[in-house]
Amino acid sequence: MIVLGIESSCDECSIALVEDGKRILGHVIHSQVEIHKSYEGVVPEIASRAHLQTIAPVFDETLKQSGLKLEHIEACAVSVQPGLSGSLQVGLSFAKGFSWARGIPYIGVDHILGHLYAAQLEVSIDYPHLALLASGGHSIIGICHSFERFEVLGASIDDAIGEAFDKVAKHHGLGYPGGKLIDELARQGKPLAFKFPLSRLDPTKHRFDVSYSGLKNAVINQSDKFWDGRSEKNLPNIAASFEKVAVDMLYKQVLKAAEQTGLSVLVAGGGVAANTYLRTLMNESKHLQTYYPSLQLCGDNAAMIAGLGYHFLKAGQHSTWEQSVKSRVKDFRHLPLS
Ligand code: KG4
Ligand code: ZN
Repeated sequence: MIVLGIESSCDECSIALVEDGKRILGHVIHSQVEIHKSYEGVVPEIASRAHLQTIAPVFDETLKQSGLKLEHIEACAVSVQPGLSGSLQVGLSFAKGFSWARGIPYIGVDHILGHLYAAQLEVSIDYPHLALLASGGHSIIGICHSFERFEVLGASIDDAIGEAFDKVAKHHGLGYPGGKLIDELARQGKPLAFKFPLSRLDPTKHRFDVSYSGLKNAVINQSDKFWDGRSEKNLPNIAASFEKVAVDMLYKQVLKAAEQTGLSVLVAGGGVAANTYLRTLMNESKHLQTYYPSLQLCGDNAAMIAGLGYHFLKAGQHSTWEQSVKSRVKDFRHLPLS
């Protein structure tokens, strides 16, 4: 089955054509970074207007790339939650219009589940397995019981890890989005030049949770306090030391989850899953076998949405015209699409 995937939850306008949940036939990711750069963050109103302008050309380009014809497309899958409401509505409206015009079904899917599916586009991984979503909006550790059932074990109690990367980068004037830039700088720095504190959460209340606001504040406002007194107080050293603590925190909780659930296969997803130190640390772990999407599929993309949507459609599920969008999703314990 050839599924058209649509992703517009934040600042990437992406369209994909994927066969049977695996084979990517066409895929275009149009980033709005250049538009939002001067604001040092995504401006929701500008994002939705930009989606409106680019979604049709991005579709045309994807179709051309695939060499397919409109009549080959058998269904649509679109991100409907969580994300920026106005941006999600552009993608959903496009999906509704396309499926109405072509007389084919469409399904609204959860963007988080999409990230957790991304690695499956390239390799087949058995369920259940541990999952780590590390992105600009989320830091979640859980168990994927199936493509549609994700049980949350822990999450950030404040900022998401990607948000912390972005805010530290913004403070140092590195530009937006900052995660990739910090990653690049950190490669030239010493990770022990600053001993930033690993947040200590009460394990009885926050067994697998993480926290980033304390670390972010320490890096931004108190870096001198954590300096080793010898190394250069330069940006690469700050970046490397910050990145180490931010990623170690996730690793510590993932290891605890592996120990307590008896699951040793971990599937990572989300923009921060592209981080060099995170990938090295998890790959070198004797306790985990970790799968990552390729770098292009870590961030927001429509291939993961088409791939995931295929499984819902194959199971006979589809959305009705009442389908709407949700900017926030409180609970991932049960598939929350309504
Ligand atoms: O998954 P994503 O594209 O969008 C959301 O759903 O949030 O993730 C974006 C986040 C941003 O915070 C960005 O700074 C971060 O992923 N990011 C990275 C790297 N590449 C992107 N963080 C650390 N290291 C990277 N290499
Ligand atoms: Zn995302």
